[in-house]
Amino acid sequence: MSRTYLWIALGLGILTTLANIAAVAVGAIQAMHTGDVGQLAGYISATGSFGQSVLYILVSVSSIYQSLLYAGNWVHLMDTEPAVIRSGGKKLDDGTPVTVSFRNVRFAYPGSTDGKEILHGVSFDLPAGQCSALVGLNGAGKSTIAKLILRVYEPTSGSILINGRDISEYSRASLYERCSAIFQDYIRYERPLRENVGFGDPGGIDDDDAIEHALDLVGMKGLGQSLPEGLDTVLGRHFEGGYQLSIGQWQRVALARALFRRPSLLIMDEPTASVDTLSEKHFFDSLDRADSTEEGSRRTTILIAHRFTTITHASHIVVLRDGDIVGEGDHETLLSDCTYYRSLYEAQVVSQRHEDPASMLRPENIEGTSRCSP
Ligand SMILES: Nc1ncnc2c1ncn2[C@@H]1O[C@H](COP(=O)(O)OP(=O)(O)OP(=O)(O)O)[C@@H](O)[C@H]1O
Ligand SMILES: [Mg+2]
Repeated sequence: MSRTYLWIALGLGILTTLANIAAVAVGAIQAMHTGDVGQLAGYISATGSFGQSVLYILVSVSSIYQSLLYAGNWVHLMDTEPAVIRSGGKKLDDGTPVTVSFRNVRFAYPGSTDGKEILHGVSFDLPAGQCSALVGLNGAGKSTIAKLILRVYEPTSGSILINGRDISEYSRASLYERCSAIFQDYIRYERPLRENVGFGDPGGIDDDDAIEHALDLVGMKGLGQSLPEGLDTVLGRHFEGGYQLSIGQWQRVALARALFRRPSLLIMDEPTASVDTLSEKHFFDSLDRADSTEEGSRRTTILIAHRFTTITHASHIVVLRDGDIVGEGDHETLLSDCTYYRSLYEAQVVSQRHEDPASMLRPENIEGTSRCSP
């Protein structure tokens, strides 16, 4: 459509220019015959106005077309049927870590054209107050599990339990109050540092001590004082005078924001996938520091990652393969008992010495199919 429009615009532009040239040429020839210079001036002025009018029409059509593109997105959004998510009135207890359990959960994305089942009867238990990792190749269903826990979708069948109770019995508001999530494409607010942290729990946005505490937890103690306007320094380069952080710092600010809410459940979906190993180490050192506090012991963390430097941070690991669980346990146990996990691990270790790291992580290089448990 846009290409067609460009061709039409180009064609009209060329036609207008040619018509202008022809009109001026005719005017010039007539003026030479009649000696009437005023007539020539009239032609030039008339063709100029005509050209401008055509240009104006083209610009208007272009702007209407652009507006229609946005309107199309808006209409599409408005036409989308909201997913029906059951929710009850139960509240999650404040300040207690949660257990998360899946019981024979099956799931297919609503509206997917092929109706493909993504999770085929998945069951596992994530212990309270600990960090658990979900591991598997691309498309195994890790993020889908995170979305189900965050109530973006309903399981097709089976149940998800929080503290032994079906997740649908809790009010979504209460669940979201007690949960924080960080994704790979976490948000960088081009706003003051205070808001970047405080948006985690807007009620506490003016509490300087609480914000400093969250920054301290992620190893950024003193960041506020080092900035020209303290916690009120605008971050990013969008606004004049904004202070730009490094990617690793932005990431830790996102972690501070997630922790600011003092969540009982923290979900991190590949939070360090796009940073170098040193930034990743800083991030997980920060998380270790935050976990070792009393506050940290009241938090259950779910970590989704590909790198084993990240995965080994977890005390409990759930291994997924194409929507099935093929192993559960700690790193050492899985290495000795789970062929698939060992194969994933070895492929990554080898790939780090390989010229083409991605090539070793292709499914055909990974062995082991049967489920293994600790
Ligand atoms: N909104 C959606 N609609 C339909 N299918 C989807 C949707 N989101 C994901 N899928 C499909 O579900 C499967 C599992 O996707 P998921 O994002 O859970 O994988 P993943 O394990 O997180 O992979 P990765 O490591 O690449 O992030 C994939 O086949 C994907 O194509
Ligand atoms: Mg994912």
